Amino acid sequence: MLPSPDFSSSGEATSRAEPRLRFDVLTLFPSLFDSFVSESLIGRAVEAGRIAIHRWNIRDWARGRHQQVDDRPFGGGPGMVLMAPPVVEAVEAVRALDPEPGWLIALTPRGRRLDQQRVAQLAEQRRLILICGRYEGFDERIFEILRPELVSIGDYILSGGEVPAMVLIEAVSRLVPGVLGHEQSAQDESFDQTGSLEYPHYTRPREYRGLHVPEVLLGGDHAAIAAWRRSRRQLPPNPDTAVGPLADCSPHRNERPPIHAKPSA
Ligand code: ADE
Repeated sequence: MLPSPDFSSSGEATSRAEPRLRFDVLTLFPSLFDSFVSESLIGRAVEAGRIAIHRWNIRDWARGRHQQVDDRPFGGGPGMVLMAPPVVEAVEAVRALDPEPGWLIALTPRGRRLDQQRVAQLAEQRRLILICGRYEGFDERIFEILRPELVSIGDYILSGGEVPAMVLIEAVSRLVPGVLGHEQSAQDESFDQTGSLEYPHYTRPREYRGLHVPEVLLGGDHAAIAAWRRSRRQLPPNPDTAVGPLADCSPHRNERPPIHAKPSA
């Protein structure tokens, strides 16, 4: 029998329309997602039925008295490897729950690095099934049998795929219509979605520690504001050409010293 999910979003309520995007997350640590699925932007999107997030514990498909999900690697080496049978059988069972088979993704540092373009493509899907790895990795036969897309969130190693899955869910959900709210989606149509990252932002107070909000932003002249923002556009430094192992990536790197800098002797 299929175990019940650890979390069923209110998007499943029968009186509601189908959520636009359904996530199924397969993990050994479903409770890591507790506040993620219930608070802030994602919590509101779930509550409003725009998205549904179902969490499944891979251990529920483990065999034997000890419900083992990992084992030592053949050939030796450090750590433990996630076993194929519980993962494959969990995916097959969860996939069969919905007529929409969904797009299968495994979170692993071996995957292709997630970027905004891929995020936008994933947001077109109706259902995403995410497998979170743990330990040293997945038994390779999981990939051979299930053929998931392998996704990494960056060139560093985390202890598991849960945080990467949250990153993916949040980035994708923001693009689902209705998740960000009306004003934001209307704005998104008029300029590209990353455009607003490239200029400085200010809010109240107008003056803080002697630093003033630029006058032009207070005047309501939209053409002047747009021109000022264009003039202040600044892309992050290219990490490939930045100097030094800890090159300063602050947009103010060429200005006065940061507030936490030690005073020079
Ligand atoms: N699992 C561990 N590290 C990861 C990463 N950087 N991206 C995706 N999954 C991971």
